[in-house]
Amino acid sequence: MKIGLLGLGTVGTGVFEIIQKRKQSLQKLYGQPLEITKILVKDKNKKRDLQGVKGLLTTDPYEILNDPSIDLIIEVIGGLEKAYQYIKYALQNEKHVVTANKAVVSLHMKELLDLAQKNQKAFLFEASVGGGIPLLKPLRQCSLLNNFYEVKGIVNGTSNFILTKMTEEGLDFHEALKIAQDLGYAEADPTDDIKGADVARKLAILSSLAFHRDITLGDVLYRSIKHVDREDIHYLKDKGYSVKYFGKALTNGEKVSAVVEPVLFQRITQFEKVKDSFNMVSVKGDNLEELRFYGEGAGKNASANAIVCDVIDIFTGAYKKDFVVLKEQKPKISSQLLQGKYLIRIVLKDSLNSCSFLKLADENEISLQRIEKPSPKRRIFITEKVSAEKIKKFIQDLKHLEFSFFVARIEKE
Ligand code: HSE
Repeated sequence: MKIGLLGLGTVGTGVFEIIQKRKQSLQKLYGQPLEITKILVKDKNKKRDLQGVKGLLTTDPYEILNDPSIDLIIEVIGGLEKAYQYIKYALQNEKHVVTANKAVVSLHMKELLDLAQKNQKAFLFEASVGGGIPLLKPLRQCSLLNNFYEVKGIVNGTSNFILTKMTEEGLDFHEALKIAQDLGYAEADPTDDIKGADVARKLAILSSLAFHRDITLGDVLYRSIKHVDREDIHYLKDKGYSVKYFGKALTNGEKVSAVVEPVLFQRITQFEKVKDSFNMVSVKGDNLEELRFYGEGAGKNASANAIVCDVIDIFTGAYKKDFVVLKEQKPKISSQLLQGKYLIRIVLKDSLNSCSFLKLADENEISLQRIEKPSPKRRIFITEKVSAEKIKKFIQDLKHLEFSFFVARIEKE
């Protein structure tokens, strides 16, 4: 099997290294060689500390995409438009495709799966969610036998790393982010990690596969984690809670809710114990009451390993056994299915007191259960059970009042 590699950045280099290192053992196992024969790069003359790539490099994607000897394309250039074009072109040209590209998959999964099915090729994207965890393959397999109704988890290594460092080492948000970037966990644009786009993309992918529905990025409601500060973390730690950045999707068969927001877990829970760049995903279905996946969620080798696993499934033909087809009709999207108690922290100013807040809560029909005063200027409110939909509207109003705030759902496992 001959492979064209689009992109030789961090993950592309990891893929090349793993395939080189395992070349002989893979050949022995499967009886045929697995070989990267062409690599797309931006600059052929860039100095690279990687043996064996010279002579394989090209700056023309179509030299790879139109090469009849190439059976499989691995796309790791990232970004959206070009990557989407190349993936589509490769599938149309009857080549298998493996990608780690969350942006493309979370917008175009249905179209690309349909195209792959039409041309009897594979379109696999294990590395797009959960880094190195074998997650999407078992999810696809189990989804053929189960009606899954919930999928949730911690799926962003960068934000989990930041929250862990803030909780355990007292770092501030930006210090911790800088370390996560240096370790290669963060996206090229780290606002995707912090404002929720990365988790939302992954939740769209997970829920599409779990529910067999066409759920795209635009269907996911997401809120940033960046409003949490050291005082919140400290206060919550004292109360036995940790903050996690969490995605959760639910379906009742007809409607789907998919929400990404900060949540609070008690220290005794498994999700609370997910630290640093690790991820954990849980699915619930009718046969399998609950299934959890845990492992390294970000970084070069974890993602590269997931890509090579997909390549091997194509090499052996195993991918054909659990091909998922998404239903034609889009589901109804409503964040009303997701409900819970919320913690709302505000900071008072001369012009903004608790009365303005209480009035706003009343107008939004948000019932409050408890009020606490962790410091003279800070107030913490715990709501009664309310939907994510209502909280979204309430937060918009809070922003208009220019309150400084942090809002998190209190999640039971
Ligand atoms: N930036 C992503 C994360 C990389 O931190 O999880 C892996 O998808």
